[in-house]
Amino acid sequence: MKNTITTFQSMKDNHKPIAMLTAYDYSTAKLEDESGINGILVGDSLGMVMLGYDDTLKVTMEDMIHHTKAVSRGAKNALVVADLPYMSYHVSVEQAVQNAGRLITEGGAQAVKLEGGAEFTHEVRAMTRASIPVMGHLGLTPQSINAFGGFKVQGKTLEAAQRILDDARALEEAGVFALVLECIPAAIAEKISSELRIPTIGIGSGAGCDGQILVYQDMLGLYGDFTPKFVKQFSCAGNVMKEGFDAYIKEVSERTFPAPEHTFSASDDVLDKLY
Ligand code: KIV
Repeated sequence: MKNTITTFQSMKDNHKPIAMLTAYDYSTAKLEDESGINGILVGDSLGMVMLGYDDTLKVTMEDMIHHTKAVSRGAKNALVVADLPYMSYHVSVEQAVQNAGRLITEGGAQAVKLEGGAEFTHEVRAMTRASIPVMGHLGLTPQSINAFGGFKVQGKTLEAAQRILDDARALEEAGVFALVLECIPAAIAEKISSELRIPTIGIGSGAGCDGQILVYQDMLGLYGDFTPKFVKQFSCAGNVMKEGFDAYIKEVSERTFPAPEHTFSASDDVLDKLY
């Protein structure tokens, strides 16, 4: 059964934790979907884990549409949410709605996500008016890395925690269907989750959130450039892949691959007549 924003709300209402992961391509989305993941985020983290940038700021709408199309084809049951990249919703409400619409109509996503608080409630309202479900994202919002001065835990002081709670309320009021809370202290995330009617999806924000999300390369051990403290590695797929690559290179260099069973034969008749 296809997960929808209504599924997410009823999971929160029934105290059932929501499991989300990122994906950026067809085969990964299909594997996650077959495992029963509730939602897949085509995150602009793809700039780092797929494209090798240092941050998410260079990701374009074209990048997002390209990867969202692939994920949508692989996700039969998971809710597909696509990130609005940096500068795709900051210029005007019209620009925001148009770009959100492209992720739905061209990318095939069921919802979009944007980073930021009360300052984006006009955009959220305009998108929901256009029947585009919007997920919010507060706390460590990577598109603001230059404003934050690095990837740092957010909401540690009373003032900062109050700002996040106020932003969460404003976004809920504006119509977001769920809210990502990234890298904020667990007790603050738990308080926000209990205050809001909509589900919160935590990343680095403790077990009190209504759901969790991780970047799949982080949780499978596929991305070694930087591993945040909050990541748990659920498998060592990077090592498994390297073992496979090593074995392939060895067999090619020793001429043991391809073996007869991987090879197509020609009849002697054809061979005899070749000149
Ligand atoms: O881009 C992304 O992958 C995200 C998640 C980490 C929440 O925004």
